[in-house]
Amino acid sequence: MECTRCPRLAAFIAENKIKFPSFFNAPVPPFGDSNASLLIVGLAPGLKGANQTGRPFTKDYAGDLLYPTLIKYGWAKGEYKADPHDGLKLTGALITNAVRCVPPQNKVTPEEIRTCNSFLQETIKKLPNLKIILSLGAVSHSAVLTAFGLKKSAYPFGHATIHKLPNGIILIDSYHCSRYNTNTGVLTTEMFENVFEKIKTFF
Ligand code: URA
Repeated sequence: MECTRCPRLAAFIAENKIKFPSFFNAPVPPFGDSNASLLIVGLAPGLKGANQTGRPFTKDYAGDLLYPTLIKYGWAKGEYKADPHDGLKLTGALITNAVRCVPPQNKVTPEEIRTCNSFLQETIKKLPNLKIILSLGAVSHSAVLTAFGLKKSAYPFGHATIHKLPNGIILIDSYHCSRYNTNTGVLTTEMFENVFEKIKTFF
């Protein structure tokens, strides 16, 4: 699928098609269970991660914590090998991003987040059994609130914070499992697992 709604992102993808012709180089679609009760929303594909493999968080450093945690808590079956052909299956969970295209320098603009929000809304609408949304990072958190037309001031972002949204869906936040956050100790494995312990209490 091609998308040219964000000119800066479309130009970056066009550039990467020349630089890295074997990469996926397109909007990265959601991955996982199409009847998920847990939706995990990340930020955006990494250049040599999800933008290379075409699967969210795959070959991205952040996937090295996310996928083993999903396996540990029963949301995925198989082995994560940082390869879209590793046979890993998500069970009850779906992963997507606030922005589907790889951004230059890993930074998305507010306009790109807004422009891509219709895709997030569409993904959410297609999940009749959705119970919990896990936002990885503040950008994802804001994108989810935008998707539901909710005010950010009413739901401040906080690690492991649970927000009961008016539509009955639970939004739970985590610091993003990025290399920066894990290397600096902003997010530890224990802190990340604590979020999944909280999710468990809703099932
Ligand atoms: N890869 C993704 O697909 N999303 C993120 O948020 C980070 C890495």
